[in-house]
Amino acid sequence: MPKLLLAAAQTRPVRASVSALPISRKMVRRFIAGPDAASALEVTRTLREQGLAVTLDVLGEDVTDASQAAATAAAYRSLLADLADADLADRAEVSVKLSALGQALGADGHKIALENAASIAEAAAATGTTMTLDMEDHTTVDSTLGILQELRTQHPWVGAVLQAALYRTEGDCRDLSNAGSRVRLVKGAYAEPASVAHPRKADVDAAYRRCMEILFNGQGHPMIATHDMALVAEATATAARLGRSRESWELQMLYGIRTDEQKTLSAAGVDVRVYLPFGTDWYGYYIRRLAERPANVFFLLRNLKNA
Ligand code: FDA
Repeated sequence: MPKLLLAAAQTRPVRASVSALPISRKMVRRFIAGPDAASALEVTRTLREQGLAVTLDVLGEDVTDASQAAATAAAYRSLLADLADADLADRAEVSVKLSALGQALGADGHKIALENAASIAEAAAATGTTMTLDMEDHTTVDSTLGILQELRTQHPWVGAVLQAALYRTEGDCRDLSNAGSRVRLVKGAYAEPASVAHPRKADVDAAYRRCMEILFNGQGHPMIATHDMALVAEATATAARLGRSRESWELQMLYGIRTDEQKTLSAAGVDVRVYLPFGTDWYGYYIRRLAERPANVFFLLRNLKNA
């Protein structure tokens, strides 16, 4: 089902009818803070009052020219300045998709994305916060980890996402479990071929457990990003077993998913961070959220029919 939906989402008629939905519609706003930085700051403040930290994502991916990529980088720098002005930077960092910074722009893509990402990392440093690189489909992993390595020479706190679904990821976890490293471990949201990723969900979950163990036993800062409550329970138990302090790791969930559990876990003494996207280019992000849960698709179809 997820693979089929992700493929259907690339077709023109589906894209046209879903992306014509106004962002104000409740089913879109469930997952997205709003169209602009002002709405994201407002939600950030509310989550902060509930004891939750935030990582902010300026929505957008797969830009097709260098000026769009530069505009995305400028939007992030402006957001970071806004966070500082609003006194929110102590509990809010940014998450960045390198395809929105030009990574796919031919032979120069890697260099363009690196320069744009470096400008955001500079702004994050000036604001006193951090930045994490999202991970996109498997063809981008080498370039993304290369850019991570280059950014970390100046800013060792730049983090990255690793996807348990990919066969390579246990090795990447080992490479990135050293002191100062920040890894956000996810299952993986992209439709991948069996040549590079576990096709069965049970195998992805088992790989996630092995990766979690590697990260917790390393010297870095594991960011356990899942809504799978069995894995959440294992993460808190593993942290306790290894004597990890509250500050040395965190749980992360997406805005709009398991909202009550986010607050309960935070109240119970776990550091919880919410991934909070905003902006008008929400289609790709929204479709991945639908693909993760069939019930979300039926809800959308019902709403489109009644629109
Ligand atoms: P799983 O899919 O097994 O879900 C467990 C339970 O959580 C479900 O049974 C359901 O109850 C609930 N749930 C999960 N998804 C839901 C949804 N969309 N709507 C409603 N309920 C839902 N991926 C990636 O490839 N690159 C990336 O950079 C990131 N970044 C990222 C950051 C953060 C903070 C998170 C939490 C996740 C990501 N992801 C990601 C997405 C990730 O790869 C994965 O697709 C989702 O987190 C869903 O997987 P779970 O671990 O939640 O488990």
